[in-house]
Amino acid sequence: MTKLENEQEQFGSNLELIGRENIDDLEAVLSVVGSYDKEGFHRVPDNCPAEFTWDYKKGAKPQLDKLYEKAKKAQWNAQTDLDWSIEVDQEQVVIANAEANPAQMQWDDAALAGTVLEKWDEKKFIEFGMQNQNWLLSQFMHGEQGALLCTAKIVETVPWIDAKYYAATQVMDEARHVEVFSKYLDEKLSGHYPMNAHLGMLLDDIVADSRWDMTYLGMQIMVEGLALAAFGFIHMMTTEPLLKKLLRYVMADEARHVAFGVLSLQEYYKELSAAELRERQEFAFEAAIRMKDRMAMQEVWDRMEVPTADVVKLMTAAPERDDFQILLFSKIVPNLKKLGLLDAADGWLRQKFTEMGAIAFENLTDSTEDEDAFADGSPAESKAA
Ligand SMILES: [Fe+2]
Ligand SMILES: [Fe+2]
Repeated sequence: MTKLENEQEQFGSNLELIGRENIDDLEAVLSVVGSYDKEGFHRVPDNCPAEFTWDYKKGAKPQLDKLYEKAKKAQWNAQTDLDWSIEVDQEQVVIANAEANPAQMQWDDAALAGTVLEKWDEKKFIEFGMQNQNWLLSQFMHGEQGALLCTAKIVETVPWIDAKYYAATQVMDEARHVEVFSKYLDEKLSGHYPMNAHLGMLLDDIVADSRWDMTYLGMQIMVEGLALAAFGFIHMMTTEPLLKKLLRYVMADEARHVAFGVLSLQEYYKELSAAELRERQEFAFEAAIRMKDRMAMQEVWDRMEVPTADVVKLMTAAPERDDFQILLFSKIVPNLKKLGLLDAADGWLRQKFTEMGAIAFENLTDSTEDEDAFADGSPAESKAA
């Protein structure tokens, strides 16, 4: 047996890691469905020890210290820095967005012929567009709450004082993000959705893990990396001025959060053994699949009374829509490369992202060079100017 085979054989199979052998097994993806917890809350045991440090020397990690100082100046107020008096006519927004983004948001008749959507009239498409917005913003809100809890956990568990300080600013950022998405849903849209089950499984895994760096890997690198790309798309495509500004403000914060993840993990991962790195590679793969699975938007199709399997086939047949889903990995892949996780164990994870069609992003800049991206859009910066 060659060295390569030996090393790669130690990885879990797809079945062991994600519960199915074929990553595109639609039936398996759709068998996982989200619902509201009847109690009105969801409790996950947190298995990671809280860690005091007696080394209070500020600036021992200069890059984290710099990020902390930046974050203190970049705080903004969700209630007063956004113009909540802007009226949102959700139906009109759906129509205007579709007109502005025909490739991503309009279906052509030829593609619809013979499918379940063939009989839909314009009213039905508009209703779908509204449900789609309700679902997407609900997932943003739930994901932001996940970030709030994870970052509070990092304050407890990370061993370095500079990282605890920075994470404390991120806790405040995430509180503000939950607040803006919740307010936008309540005041401007027309309904809520529960957390998508795939996203929920991932967040539970992240919170339950006993190793402090897994919180970072799951949240800052994977979930926030994907969120930053997703916010960027919606920001680019929406014609609604309040949402556009809100996303711009949130993105200015998120760019720092993803940089925090890479800066914190890059040295630490250089010290890990091959076996420890293997567990991180497996975890990154599992996280990527969970996030890809949620894009089927099963809860929306259920509400529209359309079998999800039929529409997913229709969507994957439209190349613009498929490209769009893969683009969501454009921040994650360069960051995993920077952390050494793409290349460890002779490129096991590189192979996984190749199979997912997302490896081409590996040469984009990683988020340590990107922490000020969108900063000019934040209200704190414009007040300082
Ligand atoms: Fe956030
Ligand atoms: Fe964040």
